[in-house]
Amino acid sequence: MNNYRQATLLGKVPLLTSWWPEFDNYKKDIVDLCLKHEISNTVESNVAVNAKSGLWESTFDFLEKYPSLQNLKIWLTQESTELINNFNNSSHRLAITESWAHVTRAGGYHKPHYHNNSTWSGIFYVDAENNKGGSNNWYLPYYLERKPGLEFADDRFTINCSPGNLVLFPSMLLHDADVYHGTLPRIVISFNSICL
Ligand SMILES: [Fe+2]
Repeated sequence: MNNYRQATLLGKVPLLTSWWPEFDNYKKDIVDLCLKHEISNTVESNVAVNAKSGLWESTFDFLEKYPSLQNLKIWLTQESTELINNFNNSSHRLAITESWAHVTRAGGYHKPHYHNNSTWSGIFYVDAENNKGGSNNWYLPYYLERKPGLEFADDRFTINCSPGNLVLFPSMLLHDADVYHGTLPRIVISFNSICL
């Protein structure tokens, strides 16, 4: 290689995002459903309970359980399939294997973690107060110590999502949710999926 003064970024870790155009037609029903089933400060799934605080997590069959979520599940499946196939130039079929809801109240958060037994994970944003924390962050799978000469380096990415947004990410990518400070609940529906 004889290129003069070139910076190359290592790796190609994708965060894929989209937005559900029909969300306004379904938002109220989804919010009502989540709040109806919320059990305060309880992780019903029983998964990684110590990583979660101040939130309700449903069981892991949330999109399957309620007929009123059928259209959301169809859109999530179709949109995720297109995003992933466009990114990979592939023609996989996508199967959602697990899905769950979070209702986070003021002071709630989710510590860094990743998802086992899954290829792509998604977070669909249903509702939250603006500028009240609760953002999700994703981390590169290597750690760069902050010191003089590495000012440019950033291994943490934050996407500020609005209701109706979908973020897809490789399931093994470390991620978390900042402390939420809103008065209204922060509601997301998440899922794990595999490509066939
Ligand atoms: Fe997660």
